[in-house]
Amino acid sequence: MPEILTLPCIPLSEPTLTPNAWTYVKDALDSGWVSSVGPYVERFEREFARYFQVPRTAATINGTAALHIALLLANIQPGDEVIVPSLTFIASINVIRYVGAIPVFWDSQPDHWNADPALLESLITPKTKAILVVHLYGDAMDMGPVLEVARKYNLKVVEDAAEALGASWRGQPCGTIGDVGCLSFNGNKVLTTGGGGLIISKEPDLIERAHYLINQAKNDALTFTHDEIGHNYRLTNMQAALGVAQLENLPEFLEKRCQIWQRYQDAFTGHPLLINFGITEDTIRSSWLYGLAINSDSLPSHRDAMTMVNQLKQRNIQSRPFFKPGHLQKPFQSFVHTPLPNAAHWHRLGFNLPSSCSLSKQYQDHVIESVLEILQAWNSE
Ligand SMILES: Cc1ncc(COP(=O)(O)O)c(C=O)c1O
Repeated sequence: MPEILTLPCIPLSEPTLTPNAWTYVKDALDSGWVSSVGPYVERFEREFARYFQVPRTAATINGTAALHIALLLANIQPGDEVIVPSLTFIASINVIRYVGAIPVFWDSQPDHWNADPALLESLITPKTKAILVVHLYGDAMDMGPVLEVARKYNLKVVEDAAEALGASWRGQPCGTIGDVGCLSFNGNKVLTTGGGGLIISKEPDLIERAHYLINQAKNDALTFTHDEIGHNYRLTNMQAALGVAQLENLPEFLEKRCQIWQRYQDAFTGHPLLINFGITEDTIRSSWLYGLAINSDSLPSHRDAMTMVNQLKQRNIQSRPFFKPGHLQKPFQSFVHTPLPNAAHWHRLGFNLPSSCSLSKQYQDHVIESVLEILQAWNSE
């Protein structure tokens, strides 16, 4: 048996924890500031504000909470319509229901998993209040048409940049282009706090309100007066300590993911049984997860992403098909009014490969060789 098969499974995306993570988390513990107030929370928010060149940010307990608050900041009311890509992680859609609004599903591009800007205007109705953009798998959306439509119809733009820390469009970091942006620091992301999120905006008033809403809408700390219904969504000092350590290594985390992405791309480009995804014009990707797709024109229909994922698992490689689109999920059936063929197509054929920045060259080779061997076996069936 090849030596690599005796090793534990190669994960899709695992965190890299550097020595300062231990130092800062221990410091947070030693200080006694373990909960949602403390110097590391403030430092984390400040350092991210500097990174994004915005006046202030708000750290949250996870990316989903950040998105929920972002919709409240955009003043989305029950019954309002929010346009959202169907092909996304479920949290981008769930939060629309948290505020009682209606998700309007937006199909993917014919040649990319991200939502298709050419379809956007056709989804607008008098009830549309916001566009929730998702920079999926770290690939930045072309924001030009989105901003144009938003301006024309007076819509808010909320950016789900959970997977896109480090990505940008025309030099503007994802998360800072629309009215409000959100990040996730879940364990599988480019940067982790264990669980965590961030709300970003160029508007200090919005971030001020975000802080109010994530802190139970507390108007007075002494008398516990609350003028609105708020949420307990603050990040803890322990988690922020981990985040501050992670931020020190962000440039190298991004560089490593970018190298892995390029290595896969070089290995798979031009393969007749695969579809590669190029870069959207004027964008830089975060390279969070490498994605590619089976070329269904050249293979029988039972050869899809799920078959590839199962066969890679037999070789100790964790991969996964692209997300199941929202319009195919049970809770949202009553909101599906038009076919969304591209989102369903990419879900059936697209898959992600291990992209952790700790992934060694030996493991990258194992992943590449495994994909190519599986395809060769399919081709000779
Ligand atoms: C696109 C997208 N949106 C939202 C989220 C939600 O973030 P979290 O898991 O931190 O709540 C995630 C990540 O998990 C995500 O990938």
